[in-house]
Amino acid sequence: MSGTTGKTGIIGYTRDALRVVNPHCLQGIACLSEAMDVRACCDIVDDHGARLWASGTRVSAVFAEVLTGRHLQRPLEASLEVGCGATLDSIVGECRDLMNDNPVLARLGATGGAREALHNLRGMPLPGPLKLLLSISRTQRKAAFTGQLAAIIVGAGLAAEIGLGAQDCDRLLLAALLCDIGEMYIDPAYVDGSRPLPPYAWPHLAAHPGIGQAVLDEFTDFPPALTDGVLHHHERLDGSGYPAGLCGPGVSLLGQLCGVVDTLSAIIMRGERAGVSDLRERLAMALRIMPDEFPPPAASWIDRALAPLDNTGKCAASGTFADRVLPTLKQIRSARLLAEALAGASTSQPADIGGRALSVIRHLDKRLRATGVYDLAQLGVLESSPARMGEVCLMLDEVGWRLRHLARRVFQCCGERIGSGDVDETRPIAELFAVLDAPALSLLGAPELAAN
Ligand SMILES: [Fe+2]
Repeated sequence: MSGTTGKTGIIGYTRDALRVVNPHCLQGIACLSEAMDVRACCDIVDDHGARLWASGTRVSAVFAEVLTGRHLQRPLEASLEVGCGATLDSIVGECRDLMNDNPVLARLGATGGAREALHNLRGMPLPGPLKLLLSISRTQRKAAFTGQLAAIIVGAGLAAEIGLGAQDCDRLLLAALLCDIGEMYIDPAYVDGSRPLPPYAWPHLAAHPGIGQAVLDEFTDFPPALTDGVLHHHERLDGSGYPAGLCGPGVSLLGQLCGVVDTLSAIIMRGERAGVSDLRERLAMALRIMPDEFPPPAASWIDRALAPLDNTGKCAASGTFADRVLPTLKQIRSARLLAEALAGASTSQPADIGGRALSVIRHLDKRLRATGVYDLAQLGVLESSPARMGEVCLMLDEVGWRLRHLARRVFQCCGERIGSGDVDETRPIAELFAVLDAPALSLLGAPELAAN
């Protein structure tokens, strides 16, 4: 077994690691067995040859106790079968139900090509281990599972828009469904998204694309184009993504498309839960705020596809400049000054981190400047116009998210040294981190920097 586990947790995951029973996956199987028939399809044997569970025996209350921490000859997921579990036919049926409930998804999946893509997905076989994992996801990770259904629908619309061939279209929809399957092997506290994560949890979360690829390599005969799509779904064309920070053609085509689909579906489902009425603007903003992050056709597709919808509403907000806008402008200014100082450092790591951060910060600043928020003559107009304030607040939301994302990248570079007592040496980087995401730094236990 060779899942590489460092001081901060899981960083890499190999196929051999799947022979060690994962506690989170095991918990999911145990919970599923309370509602559905889950049983061994072969003897479950440890690496010493001892039989732990007999073929044909139903998973019961003692299953988790018997299997916890065991090294097996064959991965557990490949040794179990679930009766009446998820199939691609049932999953496409759920996609159609979701389209009936969500007008934005209905619109994105409305074209003939998108409907054909969904129809074709129905007939594809689903390997047993994936059927097991998706059945767990459907019953125990409902929000995440619904997000993957949304991703399938968005993927079908995007594939039809760009004229993706039938084979690549099937692969994109499968990658959209499965891109977060690696999250099932990570502590649920790190992936539920309901509260800010402490920085030491980020490397765990960032491992999920690699775990997902390892799962697909082990349990399916999917081609590398598909499994690379899963591995690359958080990589970005401009190199700002994870886990590898690939850029340009280093990000596979399916990975680029899967990144678009995953981003859009997450905003759509988050917007539905929050009842926001300006989804079209939010979706286009997310795809356009950085110049080279996503393939350009994606944003223009969203504009065109959602233009006929009049119920997505316009963004509107009220408030004073001092309350709504000024804090972000101050944050940007502080971050820019710190990044400039770092970029001029004599040692390579701080200079590299500072230079990359500065590039992002300058671009965000430029986008904000284009809204007129630096023009004092416009402040009266801004404060008296909910529509103008709404546009600016929409960008502020996205800028805030980008700064937090930048904080994660800074932490990825030198996170273990921030807050470890080695503060003097890394203080400039920690100060930048504190400005970019003060709540995260306080969760790390360095409040004196967060307060600055
Ligand atoms: Fe993901």
